[in-house]
Amino acid sequence: MTQTQNVTSLPAKRYDVIAIGFHWVMAVLIGGAAIMGLMIDDVPRGPPRFAWVNTHSVIGASILVLVVLRLVWRKRNPPPALPADMHPLEKKVSTPVHHLLYTLIVLVPVFGVVNLFYRGRGIDFGFFQIQPGILQNRSVVGVVAEIHSLLAFSLMGLVGLHTVAALWHQFYRRDNLLGRMLPWK
Ligand code: HEM
Ligand code: HEM
Repeated sequence: MTQTQNVTSLPAKRYDVIAIGFHWVMAVLIGGAAIMGLMIDDVPRGPPRFAWVNTHSVIGASILVLVVLRLVWRKRNPPPALPADMHPLEKKVSTPVHHLLYTLIVLVPVFGVVNLFYRGRGIDFGFFQIQPGILQNRSVVGVVAEIHSLLAFSLMGLVGLHTVAALWHQFYRRDNLLGRMLPWK
């Protein structure tokens, strides 16, 4: 590459295989956690609800671990440059939207964990448990549950926009932006 070449004039490159793996595994887990969260009130109180919230929490906690690993990987393996022919406005919003997605993917589970722990509960992963031993505190739960819910709905809304944008690129613009994030070419 010569010194005069601009990075954005490079052909559109793909995300690396690890980033693609993180993206799709986490998309499935986040979708699952969101659906389970939305259905919590429909589950009968007592043991069925405990089991449901526990599964929701196990998935959520896995998301928290994965997003930390994903961000470490991303720091060491930065995403590919945006395609040169992208609209300037898209170029401007794309990275901040991705950063906001990451911020929410961290904050939603963090508030979920605090929400759970201040209900006086722990997480049962089957082969081990996390029991923080925090006493139930309804006033903390009231606030934290609201924050968890608000952030979760913001994440779902942003994921919706993000998905529409990806499909719009694929089927309307036909620029194959989606191909950058698919495991196959
Ligand atoms: C990306 C991950 C997550 C998503 C998308 C998510 C989403 C949701 C949603 C939509 C609700 C229902 C909110 C409402 O309408 O009031 C909810 C409730 C809840 N979430 Fe999460 N959550 C996530 C992670 C977690 C984690 C990691 C934990 C705990 C370790 C957790 C614990 C809870 C608890 C305790 C509730 C309230 C259950 C109840 O009402 O009995 N969540 N979550
Ligand atoms: C819960 C669901 C999803 C979440 C949380 C999510 C999150 C993200 C994040 C954080 C990035 C930025 C990656 C980085 O630069 O490190 C990204 C990129 C991307 N996502 Fe998603 N995503 C989800 C679902 C989807 C779906 C359903 C599609 C397609 C229909 C999609 C298509 C893409 C594409 C094409 C990129 C790369 C954009 C580019 O080339 O700059 N995502 N996603």
